[in-house]
Amino acid sequence: MKTKVSIIKSIKDDEEKIKEAAEVIKNGGTVAFPTETVYGLGADALNAKAVEKIFKAKGRPQDNPLIIHVSSKDIEAYVKEIPEIANKLIDKFWPGPLTIILWKKDIIPDITSANLDSIGIRMPDNEIARKLIELSNTTIAAPSANISGRPSPTDYERCIEDLDGKVDYILGGAQSDIGVESTIVDCTVVPPIVLRPGGITLEMLKKVDSSIEIDNAILQKPGENLKPKAPGMKYKHYAPNAKVTIILGERKKTVEKIREMVHYNIEKGKKVCILTVEENVEEYTEGISMVLGSVLDLSTVAKSLFEALRKCDDLGADLILAEGYEEEGVGVAIMNRLNKAAGFDIIEV
Ligand code: TXA
Ligand code: MG
Repeated sequence: MKTKVSIIKSIKDDEEKIKEAAEVIKNGGTVAFPTETVYGLGADALNAKAVEKIFKAKGRPQDNPLIIHVSSKDIEAYVKEIPEIANKLIDKFWPGPLTIILWKKDIIPDITSANLDSIGIRMPDNEIARKLIELSNTTIAAPSANISGRPSPTDYERCIEDLDGKVDYILGGAQSDIGVESTIVDCTVVPPIVLRPGGITLEMLKKVDSSIEIDNAILQKPGENLKPKAPGMKYKHYAPNAKVTIILGERKKTVEKIREMVHYNIEKGKKVCILTVEENVEEYTEGISMVLGSVLDLSTVAKSLFEALRKCDDLGADLILAEGYEEEGVGVAIMNRLNKAAGFDIIEV
């Protein structure tokens, strides 16, 4: 398959390209496009054959439901009812990095929702994404635009790397601002429950309704008794080729332990990358340090996390040592992704 790539510099000057991509969606094709969270791989959510192409291109398990993307807050065509609390969340956080799970109407094909009676819906903040949805005249189903299991792409070059020759069209825009996927809140249950942490934090959600809780299985190693409620959260994910280990604890001890591990592994001939922050980087004299951002603003860390994991692979790293973060605010989303990348290999110091 030949993949067409178009880069959008400004919505105004490049609308023709977005129109062209929208035609692809209308004709049942696949389009990778930017969103503020990560890049998505889209197809017409109401067209079962088109949605099937997404699963194929990504190598995605069929039991993992997709999120549908809308360009307006008017979602009655797709869902059976909108509880008051969902309305409040939509008012407060849309457009933005929040996905809401509601009971779906039959217009949504079973393949899109992986045979569930519910569907996740999100109105992205990214203007290119919204324009694409609007011009496609439908709702666009879109998982992250990576090969299943790899870290989600936050720029179009990574979409090309994973999907060239497997999708019809790649729309390139800026680097994704948030860097981790949307927060998912299940509003089919009372109280609503966060199934995946993201840029909209539990603290922010609780300000709208204090009854909202977080799925207990999110931060712990999935086990027999503790299965995450979002089907996708059970899969190995965000995993680079290198082995990832998280070192978690007080700053000084973390740095000491990482220095020791870097030295030991380099002696054994291993290539070691360190995922660190501005505040700590000068402590490391061996290994390849990657500065994710600043501990004073964890959104900077979230923004560069997936790209850093991919860079470690580019460098042929054998081992990635990641500093851990406090599970507060965006730190919850960061630790969730790191835990999965590490297969929950954590050393507490
Ligand atoms: O930020 C995002 O949400 C990105 C961009 C492209 O919008 N999309 C994204 O999609 O992250 P994906 O497919 O990579 O992740 C969707 C997650 C999966 O874990 C899936 O299991 C869960 O949402 N999910 C979807 N529908 C669900 C449902 N009805 N009930 C429970 N979980 C659901
Ligand atoms: Mg994904």
